[in-house]
Order: sequence, then structure tokens, then C-alpha cells
Amino acid sequence: MSQATNQSWGGRFSEPTDAFVARFTASVSFDQRLAGQDIQGSIAHATMLARVGVLSDEERDAIIDGLTEIQGEIERGEFEWSVPLEDVHMNIEARLTQKIGITGKKLHTGRSRNDQVATDIRLFMRDAIDSIDAELMRLREGMIGLAEREADTIMPGFTHLQTAQPVTFGHHLLAWQEMLARDHERLLDTRKRVNVMPLGAAALAGTTYPIDRHVTAELLGFSRPAENSLDAVSDRDFAIEFASFASILLMHLSRMSEELVLWTSAQFDFIDLPDRFCTGSSIMPQKKNPDVPELVRGKTGRVYGHLMSLLTLMKSQPLAYNKDNQEDKEPLFDTVDTVLDCLKAFADMVPAIEPKKESMFEAARRGFSTATDLADYLVRRGVAFRDAHEIVGQSVAFGLKEKKDLSEMTLEELQQFSDTIEADVFEVLTLEGSVAARNHIGGTAPDQVRAAASRALEALKAHREAP
Ligand code: ARG
Repeated sequence: MSQATNQSWGGRFSEPTDAFVARFTASVSFDQRLAGQDIQGSIAHATMLARVGVLSDEERDAIIDGLTEIQGEIERGEFEWSVPLEDVHMNIEARLTQKIGITGKKLHTGRSRNDQVATDIRLFMRDAIDSIDAELMRLREGMIGLAEREADTIMPGFTHLQTAQPVTFGHHLLAWQEMLARDHERLLDTRKRVNVMPLGAAALAGTTYPIDRHVTAELLGFSRPAENSLDAVSDRDFAIEFASFASILLMHLSRMSEELVLWTSAQFDFIDLPDRFCTGSSIMPQKKNPDVPELVRGKTGRVYGHLMSLLTLMKSQPLAYNKDNQEDKEPLFDTVDTVLDCLKAFADMVPAIEPKKESMFEAARRGFSTATDLADYLVRRGVAFRDAHEIVGQSVAFGLKEKKDLSEMTLEELQQFSDTIEADVFEVLTLEGSVAARNHIGGTAPDQVRAAASRALEALKAHREAP
């Protein structure tokens, strides 16, 4: 074998790889991030090979000791990554052989980089999912806590971004938390399909050695070995699923971000964000910009992009492994990093939101937000809903002309439009009366918000305590 060809597969080659091709096909610059998982997988593989008699116990121990030392070298930043060695797998294997000699070359018995890399990514994804799980839990807990504290705080609810009906701020926050609860379910559901072990599929067809895939699966904490070797080395649907989860999550975070940005503006003036989540302007001294939510809103784009990359990467690939799949890592890594950063930003920021209650209340009062309540009042007194709608419409037109909210009109003024209206109408025209009246499961009444918050906390607690 020529010195210049790759030491792992150079046997059948008569000329060295073109320097550009070597660089173009190498993945070590980014897949070295999988080193920990690669070593974990190799230790399990060697342990299993010894258990079935393919390796001796001494060989297994030499391999495990060597890999453990390499892990230390990598952690201390001493490991020298080599581009000609292509990827993380061959870098580590070459170093192992350098350290322990010929036994190092036995590690790859009954295995291929195809099942190895698929295993590494799944181990990586599983860890990432568990970190995201914890961060989502922290965010949801903080959000529910704030919702509980703000169960009585009244703000305008919007449709078409026009004032519609009064709601409580707590109710609004619990709407966000529902979105996150579904995202959380999607994440945990994805984990089930991630946690299946490709190792043992070898290149594509399995191996002739008497391997025991149940042993390796158990050592690595996988729920089971993948059923079909061709499928195990080739599909990356679990990564696509994760990127879908991430895209939907970021879509939700972008909606929350958008509202935070609007609410901190002078035009809305609903909330304050602590200074530590904002930055100033180099030219306009008065500015305090909501950078953190803006940036989360912006990061949504790259995550959607990664979902498209992964879907397109997998599209039309014939069975089994194809080099295309090497391109799965960068989008996946960036998706994980982005999701973790955005969740951290939100988990830190949400409990620190300072609602400006008076300003929210005033905004709800300004927009005729109890108009539906007046219509419902008339209906309860026998007026047909369409007629009630017309009567209230005329009252609102009058209010606009006179610059008065419905609750600020006199009884005589209101009675111009319907003699069905009596003095008790003012109970339903107040914002407090309006929200308290929506007193059913899923409604905005403060008591319902408190009950919903405590159910949400219970659900979170049950998840935390689940095995
Ligand atoms: N670096 C490769 C990847 O990320 C590892 C598998 C390579 N397999 C192969 N037959 N060339 O997909």
C-alpha cells in the first residue's frame, strides 16, 4: 500500500487521493463533535465482541484503556485531528492503533463506519433531546408561575391585532405554555424513534461474526436493535423529525417573541423587559431594544432552513448508505445549538417580564372590548343576536363620536339604542365583569386561569418524576 493513500482503506488504490478530494470528502472538521459518542459506541462494541468470543478479554481491556486515554486527550485539547484521516471514526481508530498496536486494528471487526456513524448520531441526538427536555421544563415552569401571578391582570385580547375582548395576562401566558406543551410531547415522541440502535448493521447487510446486538443495545441504553440492517444505516428520518420539532418550536417562540417586541414598544407599552435582556443604540440615546426576542424570532429562519436541508438530503436516496448522509451533521448540530440557546434565553427572560398593569388595563378599556358582553346581555333579555349586534354597533359608533367607552356612557345614553338596557348593564360592561363571566374550562376568568395553571404544573411534575 502506498504511504500516501488512506491507511484505513488504501489497499485497493494505486494512487493517492487528490488533495482537493481529500479535503472535499473529509468531515473531521465538524464530526469531531461526535468523539464522545464514537468512543462510547466503540467501548460497547468491544465489550460485546469479547462477550461473544471474537476478542479476548485482554484485547478488550487494551482497547477500552486506549479509548479512555484518547477521550482524555480530546477533552484536554491535545488530540491532533488529521484531515487525511477523513472523519472522527478513522482519526480515533488510527490513534488507538498508534497507542496499543495491532489490537487497535481489531476494534472494527464486525462493524462499518456506516452503522458506526448512524449510532453516534443517535447517541448525540438522545443527549441533545434530554438537554432540550430539561430546558423546556424550566421554561414552562417559569411561564406557568408568571401566569399564576398574573391571573387577575387584565389586558386586551386581539384578533386581527385589533382589540377584541378583554383577557387576563395569565390566560395569554397559558396559551403560550400550551404551545410549548405540544412541542414538548413532539420532542419526547421523537426520542422513542431516535433511541433505536443501528450498530451491527455493519456496512449494509449485517456481519458474519456471531455478534449479539441485544448486548450492545443494552450497554448503550438503546431500547432495541434496529430491525433491518439496510434501513438502519441509511435513513435519517429521525433527524428530520427532530428538525420538524425544532421548526415548530421556533415558530412558536417567534410568535411569542413578536408579541414581546410589540409589547415593549411605546405604542403598546404593556411590559418592561429587564435591562439585562436588552441593548442600546450607538446613535439614539433613548433606545432600549428588545434584542433577545428579536434574535430568537430571527433564528427561526435558520432552523426552517435546516429542516429543508435534511429533507432534501434524504430525498430519493436509494438504499442503503450514501455519502450524502455525511451532510446531515452540520444542520443537526446547528439546530440543537440554536434550540438550546433560544430556550435558555426564554427560560431566563420570561419569569423576568414586568407587566405594566395599568397600561394594559387602559388599552383594554379603549377598544370597546366589552361590546360582545353588551350583545350577550341583550340576548339574555330576549333580543335576537343579530338585532343585539346592530344595537351594540350603534352604541360603539356613538362612543367613537363622543370618545367614550361603553362603560363610560350614562344609562340614558345607552337606552337611546335599546330600552331593554337597564342599570345592571354596567356589571357586564366592566373589564373585570367581562373576564370573570368567561368562567368555564379553557376560559379567561381568573379562577379558571389559576386552575389551569395548577393543572399545567401537575402535568410538568408528573413528567419530571416519570422514569
Ligand atoms: N463520515 C461519514 C459520514 O458522516 C462516515 C461514514 C462513511 N462511510 C463510508 N462508507 N464512506 O457519513
